[in-house]
Amino acid sequence: MTSANHTSPGPDVHQARGGRYPIGRRPGASGYACAALIAGLLACEGTRTQGAEPVPPGYDFPADAAALDRHRKNQDVDAMRRHSWSLWAGITQTTQDGVPVWETWYPRDLALDPQEQTPRSFASRRTLEAPRQVQSADAREGSCRQALLSSILFNDPAYQHIRSLRYYDLDTYRRLLKEFDAAGTPPEERRIKPFPRNAIAVLTAWWHIKQSGLTALPVWDLEPTRPLAWGKGSADPSKRLLGNYPYTWKRFVAVDPGPRPVGPDESADVDFTYVDQSDRATKTVRKPGCRVVSINRFYRIEIRGAAVLKAAREALGDGVAEGDYAVLVGMHTATKELPEWVWSTFWWHDFPNDGRYAQGRPDAVTGVWRNYLMNAVYDFILPREYDGTPTAAFNPYIESHFANGPASNCMACHQRVAYPMKAALDGVQLFLPVTRGKLPPDGPYFADKVQLDYVWPLYLPGYEP
Ligand code: HEC
Repeated sequence: MTSANHTSPGPDVHQARGGRYPIGRRPGASGYACAALIAGLLACEGTRTQGAEPVPPGYDFPADAAALDRHRKNQDVDAMRRHSWSLWAGITQTTQDGVPVWETWYPRDLALDPQEQTPRSFASRRTLEAPRQVQSADAREGSCRQALLSSILFNDPAYQHIRSLRYYDLDTYRRLLKEFDAAGTPPEERRIKPFPRNAIAVLTAWWHIKQSGLTALPVWDLEPTRPLAWGKGSADPSKRLLGNYPYTWKRFVAVDPGPRPVGPDESADVDFTYVDQSDRATKTVRKPGCRVVSINRFYRIEIRGAAVLKAAREALGDGVAEGDYAVLVGMHTATKELPEWVWSTFWWHDFPNDGRYAQGRPDAVTGVWRNYLMNAVYDFILPREYDGTPTAAFNPYIESHFANGPASNCMACHQRVAYPMKAALDGVQLFLPVTRGKLPPDGPYFADKVQLDYVWPLYLPGYEP
């Protein structure tokens, strides 16, 4: 995909109905490494207190399992895409409070903190943090300093499942492990109770945009500048995270924070500052001729309040100022509609109507949400890639930086979540290296473990080196 092929500028719409809302103060302490760095409090006064909103009716959720299974077996990509777009339309519907449905869900820290009491309003629950998936070992100890912020949210059924069965507590898994060992339970049955069919988990990725001047944003055009396997097998474990990180991408756009309208053919030279992960040095390079796009084409939130600012600076460095923005560049969703979940991923593009990842977007997807491309994965293997290898799907803003990240498959990585995982520890991250294909359910990998139903955060907090 090259920009010369693009014709349509894409929708230029203000964020989903409802105004901007500043991020405020952090609700509570979190015990996780490099943990919640920004948390939010809605500034709107007098809004009604609400819980986690369900996906509204009419968006094919949860879909008929037999139908989904048929799409998967028939390799009916159009049908799978139709369902994933429908889900996107559903979770991005605006609630009475002016935020998309998914924003009302429970952040990971809340779901997994044994001490946590559910706060009454979703606004006091909003959290952002440096993405743990992206951190190398040394980043975990200190500043993450990358342009991305992240959050993980669980909808109400997923949250209730975790809370009621105490899946936030490693003791629960230790107990299960003992039971399975004592009973001689076969590997394929050594698992926690599966999440209910209407459970949803999402992972979000945000880019920091300055409130004045232009901010450079890398855009993924399916043209990696490094071999996909870059970093693989490096003797230095921290170097294994040196994939096609966004700062290596070919093309950048310049995001204008507004409010002026941006013409379709505007371009500008923009300085781009990043931390080079190979030597941890901060570097600034000039990106010439970047296409200018308005911030109105992103779902965005505003960074506000002293505590938030401090937290954002811890994550991203001193370049963050009060009143800056975080724009949504990527989102993963997993829905428990199939036993192995249904995996969809969405990412921002300035030409969102072009190419295979734009295909089938229905009119039900409205506003800023039409600026996102999508890929979906319903199977470990099918449909196979052109070279005959198992199917791959990734989010450029989330997995590109892993060695072989652009050739990864959501399910292949998530199937491995099990307790305990010491044996699989590779020195940096439990979930690396990237693999594809399905582990045999009765194979040795699961023989001495408890499978955690594909949900990574259930185990990561309990990381026991
Ligand atoms: C190489 C491993 C890997 C791959 C590939 C991967 N993920 Fe994940 N994913 C993780 C880890 C690790 C976390 C937890 C991060 C954290 O807790 O901060 C996670 C978290 C998530 C979450 C939120 C919590 C959960 O586990 O459900 C969702 C949803 C998700 N990923 C979806 C996807 C989708 C969709 C894809 C493919 C397009 C994908 N992931 C590919 C490792 C991976």
